[in-house]
Amino acid sequence: MSAIANIVILTGAGVSAESGLATFRGPDGLWEGHRVEDVCTPEAFARDAGFVHRFYDMRRAALETVAPNAAHEALARLDREWPGELLIVTQNVDDLHERAGASRVLHMHGELRSAWCLDCDARSGWTGPLGDAPECPACGARALRPDIVWFGEIPYQMERIEAALARADLFVSIGTSGAVYPAAGFVRAARAYGAETLELNLEASQGSFAFDETRRGPASVLVPEWVAEMLGA
Ligand code: APR
Ligand code: ZN
Repeated sequence: MSAIANIVILTGAGVSAESGLATFRGPDGLWEGHRVEDVCTPEAFARDAGFVHRFYDMRRAALETVAPNAAHEALARLDREWPGELLIVTQNVDDLHERAGASRVLHMHGELRSAWCLDCDARSGWTGPLGDAPECPACGARALRPDIVWFGEIPYQMERIEAALARADLFVSIGTSGAVYPAAGFVRAARAYGAETLELNLEASQGSFAFDETRRGPASVLVPEWVAEMLGA
């Protein structure tokens, strides 16, 4: 690795798999048991808000039962000790990066522990169910939806992500299948800006061909090894 100052890390469901949270595609994946069009689109929510709420209420409740794994812990250590710019762009809606102690985290697909009011547009931290139509903490309306970016909606903070990719010397993708855009295109954007690119994943992804280097294995093994390399210990 040449002089690396600025790092952008993209994480996907694979970084939380060893904490016990289901991934989307693959054995027992969330999309094996549910249809995207039934739980992950604005149309699904308009058609049957209760069904959509139950899907996210179950996943939000599951957060109480899981903990960060060694991959989250290692990324938090890098976040604390890395002297240059570092941004963890996560597709995940869990809060395991934060619970491990990372602070430079950007949730491009939203967060389970946030509720979005369709009346006043406020976003509020939220840990309980939304299916029983609770009141918005900001305006009192019973108009809260999951603060999740659904298919057909625009991911959050894309300008900030693009600016970080433009400055990146290293782009690292961890635990994502490269199946969903715009995240799946970040590696090619980073390369175009001259960054080195590394993929840490259990198996080949749809984007593996685009990386300078790919390492295969569980995130709980690969990520601590990589972080130790980066920090020289
Ligand atoms: N360690 C490393 N990688 C793993 C592990 C593990 N322990 N377990 C699984 N993986 C890898 C799989 O090989 C797969 O490539 O993680 C990836 C998970 O892929 P997906 O289930 O497609 O999850 P993700 O890439 O995050 O999905 C992207 O799709 O449905 C939407 O919005 C949803 O954010 C999600 C997006
Ligand atoms: Zn409100």
